[in-house]
Amino acid sequence: MELETFERLLAPIGQALLADVAASAGNESDLALGTRLRRTHDPALVAAAVTQVHLRGKARTKLGAAAALMYFTHDALEQATRASVSDHRAHQLLARGAAAVTDLGCGIGGDLIAFSRAGVDTYGVELDPLRAAMAMANLRALGLAGSVEVGRAEDTAPVPGRTTFVDPARRDGRGRVFQVGGWRPDWGMVTALLDGDAVAKTMPGIAHALVPPGVEAEWVSDGGDLVEACLWGRLLASARRRATVLPAGATLTEADDPGDAAVGSVGAYLYEPDDAVIRAGLVTAVCALTGGRLLDRHIAYVSADVLVRTPFARAFAVVDEVPYREKALRGALRARDVGTLTIKKRGIQVSPEQLRGRLALRGSRPATQVLTRVDGAGRAFLVEPVPRP
Ligand SMILES: C[S@@+](CC[C@H](N)C(=O)[O-])C[C@H]1O[C@@H](n2cnc3c(N)ncnc32)[C@H](O)[C@@H]1O
Repeated sequence: MELETFERLLAPIGQALLADVAASAGNESDLALGTRLRRTHDPALVAAAVTQVHLRGKARTKLGAAAALMYFTHDALEQATRASVSDHRAHQLLARGAAAVTDLGCGIGGDLIAFSRAGVDTYGVELDPLRAAMAMANLRALGLAGSVEVGRAEDTAPVPGRTTFVDPARRDGRGRVFQVGGWRPDWGMVTALLDGDAVAKTMPGIAHALVPPGVEAEWVSDGGDLVEACLWGRLLASARRRATVLPAGATLTEADDPGDAAVGSVGAYLYEPDDAVIRAGLVTAVCALTGGRLLDRHIAYVSADVLVRTPFARAFAVVDEVPYREKALRGALRARDVGTLTIKKRGIQVSPEQLRGRLALRGSRPATQVLTRVDGAGRAFLVEPVPRP
């Protein structure tokens, strides 16, 4: 969409058109709606309104009810932080003593909105004029304070008393960019900012070695999805490594981690640590929490004799051990009348889909099987998921 079209969409005629499209969605086919509206409106404006209504629907899962009032481009919506995570960050920022933020490269305002909603004094800078206009319109549409300007992050000097937030673009014309060298603004600028009063959103796969000294890396999962690593600059850091599990909001750091754990046999319960915990290198903290042990020093399964409900790991009751070898396993599963098999595996080279195909189970019962290494040898267990706390 052209900036000029977006500006017309914000004007009264565009707003009436948008309301018409929103009210007609689902009642009229896109073709019939487009044909009807193009009789009285400019086709570019009609296309813009139809696109917005479509993107608002798509954005609902990520941004909740607020999405129905917001403006997006397809790519900027893809890049926007989901509301549960941006709200968590904004509240953390306040808890760490920040009161004002400059969001460098704010896109359509996913994080910007969360900062403002939390009561932080909010200012956004965005290279792309259309995205900047949308971010501003989104703040206004949601009745939030703040301002946005078109500009380059590189030309925006940090202001004392204002925290800088940066969520670098990690995509180019060909897709995701995994090397920090390809991020915009670039990694050199991000690390220079982190030396002071700054926060950076990065991808969850970021290597520990890239996290600068004195900076805190917070791996965040939401509803079981590992979504990001948030880097807290030297003036805001309160730990070195942190795992945060949303929506519980529970958090673990290296201070909760003895750093080592016993390696032992499979007990009555098996725990699968949350991916944020694994990426933060805090699996042994789950051993401490559950009174458990590792099955293998290099595999992220913890086992214990008692059930401890924790947001940091999914618990499974160990029902039985079954043979690891395929032929004997097939016999054991058929004898139990298993038809639907969920296969979980760690430290074992096997494709669950192919194994399931080869087992050709036709029974009537569901089962969950864990394949892993214990003391260097492959073992198979039938388990039952314990409902989440
Ligand atoms: C990952 S997106 C930000 C998404 C945002 N945090 C949200 O939740 O909606 C990164 C943004 O940075 C902008 N950008 C890239 N390079 C920039 C630069 N040098 N100066 C300012 N903005 C830049 C891009 O246009 C893009 O909108």
